Parts: sequence; C-alpha cells; structure tokens
Amino acid sequence: MFTLPANSITTKGKTFGIEGDLVLNIYRWNGDDEKNPSINTYHLDKSKIGRLMLLDAIIYIKNNIDPTLTFRRSCAEGICGSCSMNINGTNGLACLTPIDKTEYNVYPLPHMNVVKDLVVDLKPFFEQYKSIKPYIVNDDKPEKERIQSQDDRKKLDGLYECILCACCSTSCPSYWWNGDKFLGPAILLQAYRWIVDSRDNSTGQRLSDLADKFKLYRCHTIMNCTKTCPKGLNPAKAIAEIKKLQVSK
Ligand code: SF4
Ligand code: SF4
Ligand code: FES
Repeated sequence: MFTLPANSITTKGKTFGIEGDLVLNIYRWNGDDEKNPSINTYHLDKSKIGRLMLLDAIIYIKNNIDPTLTFRRSCAEGICGSCSMNINGTNGLACLTPIDKTEYNVYPLPHMNVVKDLVVDLKPFFEQYKSIKPYIVNDDKPEKERIQSQDDRKKLDGLYECILCACCSTSCPSYWWNGDKFLGPAILLQAYRWIVDSRDNSTGQRLSDLADKFKLYRCHTIMNCTKTCPKGLNPAKAIAEIKKLQVSK
C-alpha cells in the first residue's frame, strides 16, 4: 500500500485581509516545527503593488503583510533564475509572470525537497550541473583568446541563454521519479551547450560520460520541459541532439 510521508497533507492556513482585487494562495511550510504544510490566503489591492508582476505581489506581502513568507529572488528581470516556482499549476518565474488574473495558487517547484515555504533544496540539481563540467575542457594553451567563427558561435544560440532556473527539470515526470540518476532536461541542455562549443576538445569524453541508461536515456520525449521553459528554450531538442551524436560517434 502506498502511504504518504508524515505531515505531507496540506491544510488550510491563515487568511490575511478580506478585501482587494487580487488573491494569492501561497504554500507555507516550516521544517522547524512539526506541523503540516498549509495554504495561506492573502487578499491584496493591486493598486498598491507597483510593477504588477507576481513577484512584486509576493514582495509586497513580505514587506507589508507577512514578513515570515520565505522565497528566493534577486534580479526581478528573468536573468538570475532564482524566483522559479509553481504558479497556477505551471512552473515559471514569478518576476516574468504579469498579474492578469484575480487569483493565483503559488507552490514550490514540484517534487523537490522543500527547505521553507517556496524555497526548495537545489543542491542536488547543482551537483548534477557540476558533474557535466560546465566549462571549456581543452589542454591546448593558446597565446591569445580562443577564436570562434560566427557559425560556431551560432551553435550556442538557444543554449547559452539557460538561467538554470530548474523549471524544466521539475516539470519532467522522468526527473520526478529518477531525479537522483537521470540528469534532467536543464542539465542535459547545459551538457549539449559544452558538447557543441567549438573551443572545447573533450566532446568524445563528454558523450561517453552521458552514455548511460539513466543519465540520458530516461528522457522519453514527453516534452513538458520545452513547454515549461520561461526563456523559450528547447531542452527536449538538445537531448535529441545528444542522442543523435551518441549513435553517430
Ligand atoms: S522531453 Fe525528456 S527531459 Fe523533457 S520532459 Fe520529457 S522526458 Fe523530461
Ligand atoms: S532550459 Fe529553460 S527552464 Fe530549463 S533551466 Fe534553462 S532556462 Fe530554466
Ligand atoms: S528574480 Fe531573477 S529570474 Fe526572477
């Protein structure tokens, strides 16, 4: 029989305010107490929020209503990748989500260990990133910078823009079930970014390192990753390209 872990059932939390033209229902959990996670409801007045992105509403709550609310953010411009969360059932960046609805359900990224509220533990994700050697591997020591042709540089388009927000990986069913062994779409897109970099000369080794039934081949082309990416990237295509290189090497 399948049993849920202790304290995993979400309960109704506190309600803040009763009036306003915007409602945010936000997941709250604090590992320091023994309580179940709960959903707090915040009634807000949009005219007080400012820039009218979801992140601004969350910051408004923290600054003016409930200072205990915990979340990550830095750039507010879709560049740092820290404000990724699950917004009305889809992973995305709060700072790039315009407030065009009257109610939002805001949860942490799915299938990740929660540290507190909307903050998840990304350490295993960044360990996987480290494992693919996200830097140029090339023993040649040029006297000047390594030159890249315009055509070679273009091969990095659609890859270098990845901000490692983890929205794609945490939307991938294969990553949910095998996230400890499958690298997931974000890390595989990054792996491909270094495989196709003309300045790197460890392509064969990189491909051998990925030739593993879990690391790469747990991708079943379900495409959630590509549908989810808030930067409009296509991790599923990058994964397919790695698989093509695996058969042609
Ligand atoms: S295409 Fe692959 S990586 Fe992307 S969601 Fe599907 S299984 Fe996951
Ligand atoms: S591919 Fe897109 S969704 Fe995935 S980590 Fe990079 S920017 Fe985020
Ligand atoms: S705060 Fe940097 S991406 Fe949203």
